Amino acid sequence: MPRKIATGINGLDQLVGGGFPEGRVILVIGGPGTGKTIMCGQFLYKGIYEHEESGVFVSLDESKDHFYSEMQGFGWDFRKAEEEGKFAFIDATRMSRVAMLREKLDKEGRSLHARLRGKQLPIDELIKDLQVKIHHTKIDRHAPGARAKRVVVDTLASLIYRIPDPVERRTAVVDLIESLADLGVTSLVTTELEYLGLERNAVEEEFLVHGVIMMQTLFSGGTTTRAIQVEKMREAKVNPNLVPYSIDQNGIQVFPNMPLFGEK
Ligand SMILES: Nc1ncnc2c1ncn2[C@@H]1O[C@H](COP(=O)(O)OP(=O)(O)OP(=O)(O)O)[C@@H](O)[C@H]1O
Ligand SMILES: [Mg+2]
Repeated sequence: MPRKIATGINGLDQLVGGGFPEGRVILVIGGPGTGKTIMCGQFLYKGIYEHEESGVFVSLDESKDHFYSEMQGFGWDFRKAEEEGKFAFIDATRMSRVAMLREKLDKEGRSLHARLRGKQLPIDELIKDLQVKIHHTKIDRHAPGARAKRVVVDTLASLIYRIPDPVERRTAVVDLIESLADLGVTSLVTTELEYLGLERNAVEEEFLVHGVIMMQTLFSGGTTTRAIQVEKMREAKVNPNLVPYSIDQNGIQVFPNMPLFGEK
C-alpha cells in the first residue's frame, strides 16, 4: 500500500481515504470553471508550505503570469515559492498550440506531413524538462537528493481533444501518464468532461490512472451546487458519495459529511 500524502484541501483527505497515494497519478475531471486549476494550485502550495513537499506545475493552457495572478487571489504566492527554489512552472502551451494547428489543418484536409515537419507533439521533451525541474526543485536547497514530490499537469484536455487521430491520441495520453508514474512523484492531471449525465461514458484516461476525482456544477431548483466525487482510488477505502464543495478566497473546501441540496 502506498503512503498517503495530504491533499492540502480541507475535507478531501477524508473523501479519498486519508490522502492521495504517494507516487501515483490522479485524474481530476471537471467542466469549465469547476475549480480544477485552483485545486491543483492548492495541492502544490499547501504541499510546499504545510507539508514540506516541493512541486512543479505543467501548464498546457495558461501562461505563467496568468496562473500566478490567479493564485495570488487566494494569497498563494507562487512567484516567491519559485524564487525560493521550491516551485517550478513549465509553460507547455506550445504543445497545445501544435495540437491545435494540426487539428485545423486536418479539418481543412491539408497534408499534415509537409506542413508539420518538426512540429510533432514533443511529449518526450516535456518529460525530460519535467525530470530536470523535479531534480532542481526542493524545499531545502542544501539537502542532497531532495527533489520535487508533487506534479500537476493542467489540462490534458487542451492537448488530447485536439488530436483527431484516435491512435495518436491514445499514444500521447498513455505516454504522458506512464511517464508521470515513472517519475516517482504524486501527480494530479486535469481533464474536461465531454459529456455528463447518469450514463456518462468513462474517458479513456480513467483506465490508465490510479485514481479519478470528478468535480461538477449541478443545477437544481434555480440554485447551483458544486459537487465532488471520488470515482476511483485503487488500494484505498474511499467515501464514494457525491458531496458538496465550495470555492472562496481561501481556495477549495470539501464537505464530506454534508448531504447535497440539504436533504435530511
Ligand atoms: N474568491 C473566489 N470565491 C469564489 N469563487 C471563486 C473565487 N475565485 C475563483 N472562483 C471560482 O472558481 C472557478 C474557476 O476556478 P478554476 O479556474 O480553477 O476552474 P477550472 O475548472 O480550472 O476552469 P477551466 O476549465 O476554465 O480551466 C470559477 O467558477 C470562479 O467563479
Ligand atoms: Mg483551469
